[in-house]
Amino acid sequence: MLRPTITGWGRCTPESIVTNDDLATVMDTSDEWITTRSGIKERRVSHVENSDMATVAALRALAAAGLEPTDLDYIMVATATPDRFIPAMACHVQAKLGVNAIAASDVNAGCTGFIYGLSLANGLMATGAARRILLIGSERLTPYLDLERRDTAVLFGDGAGAVVLEAAGGEEGLRSINVGANGTLAGSLTVEGAGSSWMEEPMPVRVVMDGREVFRNAVVGMEAAAHKALADAGWAVEDVDLLIPHQANIRIIDATTKRLGIDPDKVVTNIDSYGNTSAASIPLALSEAVDQGRVAPGSKIVLVAFGAGLTWGAATLQWGDRIRPLGTSDVGLPASDRAGIQIMADRSRAWHQ
Ligand SMILES: CC(C)(COP(=O)(O)OP(=O)(O)OC[C@H]1O[C@@H](n2cnc3c(N)ncnc32)[C@H](O)[C@@H]1OP(=O)(O)O)[C@@H](O)C(=O)NCCC(=O)NCCS
Repeated sequence: MLRPTITGWGRCTPESIVTNDDLATVMDTSDEWITTRSGIKERRVSHVENSDMATVAALRALAAAGLEPTDLDYIMVATATPDRFIPAMACHVQAKLGVNAIAASDVNAGCTGFIYGLSLANGLMATGAARRILLIGSERLTPYLDLERRDTAVLFGDGAGAVVLEAAGGEEGLRSINVGANGTLAGSLTVEGAGSSWMEEPMPVRVVMDGREVFRNAVVGMEAAAHKALADAGWAVEDVDLLIPHQANIRIIDATTKRLGIDPDKVVTNIDSYGNTSAASIPLALSEAVDQGRVAPGSKIVLVAFGAGLTWGAATLQWGDRIRPLGTSDVGLPASDRAGIQIMADRSRAWHQ
């Protein structure tokens, strides 16, 4: 049966960095609190639209795969922060890639969006409905952060990662995948103020979260999803070469790694540099891991995520022979004329005037 294989990878992170010390200038927090509670040291803040970051990541992934946008038959964007609610952000990305007619749609499964996208791509390839899919995880979360809510404002950042998936029939590619959700816990991590529920009474648009509830469920959910993915692939924990978990909190990652019994040296983490970039975090970390030489031909990789919904999911995939990009793209974002902390502060202040 045909299944998705990653043949191209790319990422895009905006240039503006906001450190924990920067945040401490606009709210009652400290580098020490943020670092010890979350592992985050800094995050990126976008001055451009989410679809701009997604498009740059996509062009880099396409170059790595040696393909043109016209070679694709599906553009899928995992995001919870699209440029607009309508149309799907994938349509904006399609236009920015300079193509049309190719199928384009979004997937919203919170921070698990990339795994959900992979699961949908798997189905499309298994049925022969698509052979080349561009799967992007891209988030512009910082406009949703209320600087008067220090429990959430310090945790999230902006960025994008993308992969080109091509259908293949050998040993390589996706070996197992599972996704799930518990909608009874929807209120524990949500954006209030945006959506049809708030049309009659506009209010500040912001992320709100019950951090402890999410934390508890994240560790249990990621462990169970990863165990199921391993069992379905017929892999033992010792077979795993690399674990790429969603980057939400270093303590969640460490606890999940310990419960799974995976050697910490095999775990990819970059939360210190980017914070939680939701659906972008796994393709961003994957792309960095490949470029840093952490992926070898035939590497056995586990992806695992947890997020708003609450949702969860895990996948096993065996890397192919090629670990070098076929080409590179010199596209990039335009320069920013404002400091990252200024972008965040201006946006948050606007709601409180
Ligand atoms: C949010 C999170 C870091 C908080 O850590 P915690 O150890 O649970 O902290 P607590 O909620 O017990 O808060 C402890 C204190 O720190 C304070 N605090 C919260 N945010 C703070 C900040 N940015 N700076 C300083 N103090 C802060 C709280 O007000 C509280 O003070 P109090 O005891 O006087 O009331 C943690 O719960 C978490 O990471 N949860 C998961 C969130 C997540 O990953 N979400 C996305 C999933 S995809």
